[in-house]
Amino acid sequence: MMVSSITLSAQEFTLIQKIVFDEAGITLDESKLSMVQNRLFKRMNHYNFAKFNDYIRVVQFNRDERIEMINQITTNETYFFRESAHFNFLESVALQHKSYELFSVWSAAASVGAEAYSIAMLLDEILGEKNYAILGTDINTDVLQKARLGLYPESWVDKIPLNYRTKYCLKGKGPYSRQFLVSPNIINHVTFKEANLLKEQTGIGQFDIIFLRNVLIYFNDATREIVVNNVIKNLKVGGYLIISLTETIKHLPIRDLTHIEASIYRKEAE
Ligand SMILES: C[S@@+](CC[C@H](N)C(=O)[O-])C[C@H]1O[C@@H](n2cnc3c(N)ncnc32)[C@H](O)[C@@H]1O
Repeated sequence: MMVSSITLSAQEFTLIQKIVFDEAGITLDESKLSMVQNRLFKRMNHYNFAKFNDYIRVVQFNRDERIEMINQITTNETYFFRESAHFNFLESVALQHKSYELFSVWSAAASVGAEAYSIAMLLDEILGEKNYAILGTDINTDVLQKARLGLYPESWVDKIPLNYRTKYCLKGKGPYSRQFLVSPNIINHVTFKEANLLKEQTGIGQFDIIFLRNVLIYFNDATREIVVNNVIKNLKVGGYLIISLTETIKHLPIRDLTHIEASIYRKEAE
């Protein structure tokens, strides 16, 4: 049977909605049924299943397959220097930073790493090689593998300012000729790790700035509140939380954050 002719019923979709919500906090509304169906064909093929119910049973009992399913379902769109106002802000904070202290930034829904490496390029320019560290985390293990490689399609370089492009991007050769590599000295400052924003992160340290951009959009308000409260536990007092310009948390009852400017918040107390 052709896998692409198998359809996901409304009942099966409800089961998947619940699993994805419980696992990742992601709210899939009814309009996402065919997107979910199409993205899961690959896994149906892998098992040679003829019914989505068979696949759902595996997902319910097997955590590794739940991770595979989340990998298929998350939306990972990203690009270098996305929302340039945030990079102007990062620059102004980094310029005030005392050079003997490590400046640390968390890219908390890192996708394939374009955000984390954009931050690293800017900090390398301002703070010099020794004084910064970036952590990139994501729930999706596939994107993290790509992030660690630091290898991107040639067209992605267009978003990188020219001075960083010449300094920090290496044009691929031979089989990599349509790609570019982020330079190893930048890659060495960035660590990638799997982390679910629904859970409190212990052992990753305290950050001067946390980028939490273009991920809150996938959650409902109750989950947004949990996620923001979790994340700011890892923010230094006086540090900044940056969300996307297209997102808002102003209506959520979150303590100890002051709104500084559009999409940027400062932590005032522990
Ligand atoms: C659209 S990308 C945003 C990438 C980057 N922050 C940017 O603004 O360009 C959203 C990312 O959030 C991740 N994500 C979704 N739910 C998550 C969760 N519960 N925990 C951690 N990451 C999650 C997805 O895997 C995806 O890579």
